[in-house]
Amino acid sequence: MGSEEFRAGMRKLAGGVTIVTSIDQDGRRCGLTATAVCSLSTDPPSLVACVNRASSVAAVVEASGVFAVNVLAHEQQAVAEVFAGRAGLAREDRFAAGDWQHGAGGAPVLAGTCVSFECALAEVKEFGTHLILIGRVTKTHVTPEDDSPLIYGNGAFLTTTSAPQAAA
Ligand SMILES: Cc1cc2nc3c(=O)[nH]c(=O)nc-3n(C[C@H](O)[C@H](O)[C@H](O)COP(=O)(O)O)c2cc1C
Repeated sequence: MGSEEFRAGMRKLAGGVTIVTSIDQDGRRCGLTATAVCSLSTDPPSLVACVNRASSVAAVVEASGVFAVNVLAHEQQAVAEVFAGRAGLAREDRFAAGDWQHGAGGAPVLAGTCVSFECALAEVKEFGTHLILIGRVTKTHVTPEDDSPLIYGNGAFLTTTSAPQAAA
């Protein structure tokens, strides 16, 4: 099967929008918009994030051993666009978008997200163009407000502000 057909199919798989961040050994931050993130295990608390091998995060995460997954709220679309490279900014300059702090483990954590997970890198698998990062969650920052998440599906940013419809 061709990659175009695959891409067209995957556009139908809507997902929560995150910014995966890390930091290099000189303290320089990097981050990218990612939907290829999911929960892995509750014991130990862990998650999976898939990043392109050519990306800024892939270049530093194995040496730093830490990363963070920032799950964006619906009003943070502009930050998602910056970290998807759409503003053409250098990796450190992207952090002018949003209110960023260093997490306890060092990886950048964004204020106002639905939730941000700090992770210690437990394992890395290479497959095709991507690295599969397995992170042991070391800290969870949950925003007290019940904010709705930012979603990406069918090639567009979406929100889930409407209540689910009752089953017929
Ligand atoms: C909605 C959306 C989801 C994305 N998901 C991923 C992803 O899961 N993994 C990934 O490596 N890149 C993903 N990308 C692409 C990266 O955000 C983009 O290539 C970014 O510029 C890479 O960062 P870098 O320039 O610092 O390497 C996504 C882009 C968008 C717009």
